[in-house]
Amino acid sequence: MSAIDAFLGQITPSSNQLVLLGGSAGWMMPPAWLQRFRRIDAYDIDPLAPWLFKLRHAKALQARPTEIHFHRSDAIAGLPTLLDRHPDAFVWFDNLLGQLRYRLGDEDAAERQLGQLKHVLAGREWGSLHDMYSGPTDEKTQINRSALALAHPGTPLLDDAGTQRLLQKLDAKGVWQDHATRVVFPQGTATQWIPWAFRPHYWHWLEAGWVKPSS
Ligand SMILES: C[S@@+](CC[C@H](N)C(=O)[O-])C[C@H]1O[C@@H](n2cnc3c(N)ncnc32)[C@H](O)[C@@H]1O
Repeated sequence: MSAIDAFLGQITPSSNQLVLLGGSAGWMMPPAWLQRFRRIDAYDIDPLAPWLFKLRHAKALQARPTEIHFHRSDAIAGLPTLLDRHPDAFVWFDNLLGQLRYRLGDEDAAERQLGQLKHVLAGREWGSLHDMYSGPTDEKTQINRSALALAHPGTPLLDDAGTQRLLQKLDAKGVWQDHATRVVFPQGTATQWIPWAFRPHYWHWLEAGWVKPSS
């Protein structure tokens, strides 16, 4: 997960409060990044999330100290309420947005909801790490790292032809899932694309970005 750690290391939110959505066990974030906040409110639908998260991060948070509060609720459906409750906090979507199409069982409905988020978040400092695509690759090849050449800040939103070119560079094979997250960030947001070996020869193509109120 070092590419994700490196990305988070570049995120220096102006708030010392974090609203963490879908943080689960917090595997995808180094303790040092969490320690920059004085208060964290973690929202997850999984009842085990607080226990798992504390297992990994409690010691570092106590040492800072950083206060942590856990909430079990649907953070996407309840986003407007949640933003009102934490008006000054930085909001981080921790790899949950790419799951929405599976939760809803409807790719079009997911894309519509995901496309609305940036409007609900207008004026707020926020960021997200999420799946863009996932699927099998050729067994003989590792992920084609040259695809990373496409992953530079300010990459324009991919159209369908651009997506196909990207998948070819990834040595994609068989059916790949589109996680309907292309619409998450406001156009022009600098994003980082991070290939991640979910298991041998099955990759997730993650996107990470950070939106500042002035951008
Ligand atoms: C792929 S896991 C994230 C893993 C996590 N980032 C980590 O590093 O361990 C997605 C998490 O989001 C949570 N989740 C999915 N949809 C959610 C929603 N609408 N509201 C709150 N949590 C949600 C799931 O329960 C799960 O814990």
